[in-house]
Amino acid sequence: MKNLSTALAGAGIGLRAPHVRQVLSERPAVPWLEVHSENYYVDGGPALAALLRLRTDYPLSLHGVGMSLGGADPLDRAHLSKLARLIERTEPALVSEHLCWSGIGGRHLNDLLPLPYTDEALAHVASRVAEVQDFLGREILVENVSSYLAFADATIPEWEFVAAVARRTGCKLLCDVNNIYVNAMNHGFDADAYLAALPRDAIAEIHLAGFDASGPCLIDTHGAPVAPDVWALYRRAIARFGPVPTLIEWDTDIPPLATLLAEAATAQSILETPDALAA
Ligand SMILES: [Fe+2]
Repeated sequence: MKNLSTALAGAGIGLRAPHVRQVLSERPAVPWLEVHSENYYVDGGPALAALLRLRTDYPLSLHGVGMSLGGADPLDRAHLSKLARLIERTEPALVSEHLCWSGIGGRHLNDLLPLPYTDEALAHVASRVAEVQDFLGREILVENVSSYLAFADATIPEWEFVAAVARRTGCKLLCDVNNIYVNAMNHGFDADAYLAALPRDAIAEIHLAGFDASGPCLIDTHGAPVAPDVWALYRRAIARFGPVPTLIEWDTDIPPLATLLAEAATAQSILETPDALAA
């Protein structure tokens, strides 16, 4: 492998299976790529080979969806070992996971479920973030998730909970601006107050995606273009946090690669003119 760049800047895209062949052959001028870590928990095969080839030309972010960081079962050491092996292989700039739980009693649920925002849950998830960082020997990013219900016992606003995890553990934050917008609409809070509560220095990556608005609440499908209101919130986030590396996520009804690249180009133009858009 040639000398790998490990710095992220600008607007990247999530690399998904339908686009791998085209990205390999065309090497589009996108500054970095993000992949779902668990798709590469293998010791060989074409998917890993393609990733390692792309890694010679693109900085990489590894984004986990299956660690159940906030879960009540012990952290899965086999899962962590596979992640450590992938980190060794790919030398990613960033490694992230979701601030959620996704299993109980050894059963894995294929979803990113919200935590009850309580002192007990905060202490629990903070200790597990610290455990993961110790195991991997590096800092991780944790991402705020979308949700469609809130726990009656919650005592801490979501934004304070997210900020406190970063403060307690020294981890960084992956600020999903679409998730903030979706939750603000679903739960009736102020998305700008959420952004204002996050520690500026901890924001290491931003996610943007599209949602479904056809039902009684917004559903975070990652299956549509970024909504105009989310672009507007993103502009305010960049004005506040500076030019944070930003990723376009698209996981269902995946469009042609050109559509993702156009969304990334829009994010890039906002990253390059933060002051003009700060008003
Ligand atoms: Fe996200």
